[in-house]
Amino acid sequence: MPNRLPEHAHLVAEYVEPYRGGRLTSGQVERFRRVVWSYYRAARRPMPWRETRDPYRIMVSEFMLQQTQVSRVEPRYHEFIARYPTVFELATAPLGEVLRSWQGLGYNRRAKHLHETARRIAERGGIVPDEVRELRTLPGIGPYTAAAVAAFAFDRRVVVLETNIRRLFLHGFFPDAQGVSDREIEPLVEQTLPERGVRQWYYALMDCGAALAGMVGNANRRSRHYSRQSSFSGSVREVRGMIVRVLSEHAEVPLETLERAIGPTDERFRPALEGLERDGMVVVSGRSVSLGESSP
Ligand code: ADE
Repeated sequence: MPNRLPEHAHLVAEYVEPYRGGRLTSGQVERFRRVVWSYYRAARRPMPWRETRDPYRIMVSEFMLQQTQVSRVEPRYHEFIARYPTVFELATAPLGEVLRSWQGLGYNRRAKHLHETARRIAERGGIVPDEVRELRTLPGIGPYTAAAVAAFAFDRRVVVLETNIRRLFLHGFFPDAQGVSDREIEPLVEQTLPERGVRQWYYALMDCGAALAGMVGNANRRSRHYSRQSSFSGSVREVRGMIVRVLSEHAEVPLETLERAIGPTDERFRPALEGLERDGMVVVSGRSVSLGESSP
């Protein structure tokens, strides 16, 4: 085992001993923490949402970061926060406007969910819940986002597990195992979690895990939860995105014009439009279509 602290994230696997079942030894915990902190001290990635304590802003960033890369999120986060600096501005904005502000981030349903969540939070005085269970009741907040908001906004000692953290634990503690499930990784995340500084610790885990991507083969393939993203090209979701983009440039678009813009022979047009309507993101009224929700 090397004595020098590693300067590179991939050395985690040389520095900690593989997991052999039961609880981690104090040595394993200590070594793991040392290498993760040392990597973070040398190479932490600054990000705007890591500089704020405002739970609303942290929540916005986590909605954006679901499925979208940090570099693409950064400029959009700044614009979005400038436009909706608090949960109240977001809650009172028309949905169509919020969907327009979301353009370029993709997965537009996230914007719809975020808007709905902001409304619910505004109704209860603008207080973002600090408990995972309560966060989970809000639209668009799944297990990861709930844990992330609780940990990053409130320093709660909860288990956060996402792709970078999973990669790091697989690489460090399960170097040879196949089909490792999150159930096996979660106790190790919990056992290595420090008493204080939870938020910074998770940033360190994410940065260290992100540094491993492409460097150590694909550790996440050894996860039971590994799945390739289904192809965007050719999907109904692709056409949904195209429809929202066209509608975001106009107040109202005749149905025929919209269909022509998408490609009149594209059989995905109808299901895509119907899906958007069902999800409350577009309104079809007579022969014209607009972004947003029908007025109550
Ligand atoms: N920092 C805070 N949240 C993050 C996320 N979801 N991905 C990467 N870095 C982050």
